[in-house]
Amino acid sequence: MNPQLDPERLPRHIAIIMDGNGRWARERNRNRIFGHREGSDSVRNIVSCCRTLGIPYLTLYAFSKENWQRPDREVKALWRLLKSFLKSQLPEIIEKEIRLCHLGDPEGIPEDVLAQLQAAVAETARYDKLTLSLAINYGGRQEITRAARLFAADVQQGKCDLHALTPDRLSEYLFTTEFPDPDLMIRTGGEYRVSNFLLWQLAYAELYITKVLWPDFREPQLIEALCEYQHRERRFGKTSEQVRRTRSRTGEAKRL
Ligand code: FPP
Repeated sequence: MNPQLDPERLPRHIAIIMDGNGRWARERNRNRIFGHREGSDSVRNIVSCCRTLGIPYLTLYAFSKENWQRPDREVKALWRLLKSFLKSQLPEIIEKEIRLCHLGDPEGIPEDVLAQLQAAVAETARYDKLTLSLAINYGGRQEITRAARLFAADVQQGKCDLHALTPDRLSEYLFTTEFPDPDLMIRTGGEYRVSNFLLWQLAYAELYITKVLWPDFREPQLIEALCEYQHRERRFGKTSEQVRRTRSRTGEAKRL
């Protein structure tokens, strides 16, 4: 464990918007696809670091609903990259006992990529050392709309009562129903937006935005983000005094 980090105060769930591949490539006079390819190496590196650190959940925004608007050539290259990542990384994912999950709409994902993704999800379902969720063909608003529709269908079929709807109940219809909400959301590339990513789940996440472009985001940058996270006080709507009082009373403050 890195000596700068307190192993008792690591986030349980990290979510990342991996931005800046295009700019990274442009700075090197290369095309955007070159940047995405280098970005895949950052994915490998960050997954491996999270596994080593013992972070239980990592969610990566790999392809948004809005990314379909990109030039056709780039969209196709992103699908190729995802497929080859899944194929080449699966043995290591299995060896490290990582569970792979998909967040997003299966409809629309090219058949061969979807088949690869679903096979990897099935093959790793029994693992629990790290749950790696790939948000692919994902949008936060679409996810919440889908949850509302599923709940409405259950009401229509008499399976539940409309008045029993609470935030916790609605969460059960989200893709992330089994996972804790992210504690830390990292966005690389320096933009201050959430871009339709985990809109519901990020309600109380600590946000860490860095100008570092995704292909340059590797272990040292992750450690820096975690150090900053460990200095944040998470109040969940309470006052600072209340939080400190509870911590000293329970001796808790283990997990931020
Ligand atoms: C945003 O950078 C990045 C994406 C839309 C795709 C992310 C994909 C990868 C990191 C590679 C493949 C993923 C996996 C899981 C293997 P951008 O293109 O918007 O960058 P820019 O803002 O500099 O143009």
